[in-house]
Amino acid sequence: MMEIAQMSAKKQQELRQEYTEKIRRLLGERYLQQPYAHVHSYGCQQNVADGEKLMGMLAQMGYGFTSSPEEADLILYNTCAVRENAEDRVFGNVGALKHLKEKRPGLTIILCGCMVQQEHIAQKIRKSYPYVDIVFGTHMLAQFPMILHEYLVSQKRIFDISLTDSEVPEDLPAYREDKVKAWLPIMHGCNNFCSFCIVPYVRGRERSRRPEKILEEARALVAAGYKEIMLLGQNVNSYGKGLEEPINFAGLLRLINGIEGDFRIRFMTSHPRDCTHELIDTIAECGKVCKCIHLPVQSGCDRVLKEMNRHYDRASYLELIDYARKKIPDVAFTSDIIVGFPGETYEEFLETLDLVRQVRYNQLYTFIYSKRKGTRAAEMEDTIPYEERSKWFRQLLAAQQEISSQIHHSLIGSTVRVLAEGEGKSGAGYLTGRTDSNLIAEFPGPKELVGTFVNIAVTEAHNWAVKGVLVNGGK
Ligand code: SAH
Ligand code: SF4
Ligand code: F3S
Repeated sequence: MMEIAQMSAKKQQELRQEYTEKIRRLLGERYLQQPYAHVHSYGCQQNVADGEKLMGMLAQMGYGFTSSPEEADLILYNTCAVRENAEDRVFGNVGALKHLKEKRPGLTIILCGCMVQQEHIAQKIRKSYPYVDIVFGTHMLAQFPMILHEYLVSQKRIFDISLTDSEVPEDLPAYREDKVKAWLPIMHGCNNFCSFCIVPYVRGRERSRRPEKILEEARALVAAGYKEIMLLGQNVNSYGKGLEEPINFAGLLRLINGIEGDFRIRFMTSHPRDCTHELIDTIAECGKVCKCIHLPVQSGCDRVLKEMNRHYDRASYLELIDYARKKIPDVAFTSDIIVGFPGETYEEFLETLDLVRQVRYNQLYTFIYSKRKGTRAAEMEDTIPYEERSKWFRQLLAAQQEISSQIHHSLIGSTVRVLAEGEGKSGAGYLTGRTDSNLIAEFPGPKELVGTFVNIAVTEAHNWAVKGVLVNGGK
């Protein structure tokens, strides 16, 4: 399939159409009723966005979708490799498919995405999971119709994890289950090589999509009634590098903010190294951009940050936070933190804890370091016992819970604007949504309000969310 990657975009598109049609005919001959696919994406939103493209292609081939693997004629897991537990979960779920395949040999089982892009994982699947029919890597996404057709015709296992640094095609249809919020990838890959991270190895080099293509997609989403667009990239702040036209992420935000309509814009992930004052000024100026910045710090200790290859230090990070707080009233920050990086001491961890208390994040995503084969950190001496890391981790969680709880309690009595996203967990008659700062809010309200912005008076605060009531019926 490597040869196909070398073809022009137009030629590839024609080929995809041809093979999509072939599969459509084949399925018509083989199945009396419409066949069903079960698709699940693990990992980050970028992977979910890829999953939506795979579903888009499957829908064009004639597949319907089911949330139950037992009912499916095709099962596709789009996998994640970022931490060991992400991989364990995939292996667990794939293991559970063995009996399904025995019962129904006609079932097609496919694994794709970041995890299988790693040679040692592909080998393991080849040897130990003989009932997995197709394995293809992150760079083969656009060739899915050709790969699937070859398997359906030959019934022979296919493994293809070749790497091509070709353009990601623009014309893959996305099948979006959510009708309120949409993911919109603006770039692919990553060039940063943070020493702990597998992403640059499994996703390849950074490539920005052309601004006019992103704008076209954003306009179509707004026209289709989407109320929130989440711009995605591993490092959105380096958007535009390598494009012919001079544009950076701040410029792109301004363009999208200029689209007519009542919708909001979020983005992730913003790498602190390339986060500029210009970007913060732009967030402040653009009315549709949420005043919530996900700015993963990973550690509050300069020595650890250097070992992580993050290219910023504690002081420059805190300067950014200060600048944003001055320019954007009520700006919210969220962050990712890794606990127990190889060689980290308890004193160094305490510097992270101290930074967390200083910044007072609205939310924190905390991870225990997980060794990833092939990364630089995997070669570093790692002597911290697991129990020790877990202790630090719990300490960090407790500190953050206190901060989140204080922030949430301070909202009681105020009115917040919420995008109603769906039915709430609190029971019948409840809706759930998110505030501008990405805080979950639950409130009683009619289903008709889903997909609209409503005003909520906050009455109750929890660690993970607030509860409230509609003000003036939400308007
Ligand atoms: N591109 C984003 C991060 C994507 S991965 C950024 O640079 O911020 C999401 C998060 O997973 C990272 O921010 C990091 O906190 C965590 N992570 C990545 N590799 C990890 C590893 N090997 N062990 C534990 N956590 C990891
Ligand atoms: Fe991984 Fe760093 Fe790239 Fe984020 S910026 S995806 S943490 S290498
Ligand atoms: Fe996981 Fe790949 Fe995303 S490793 S976090 S799915 S880019």
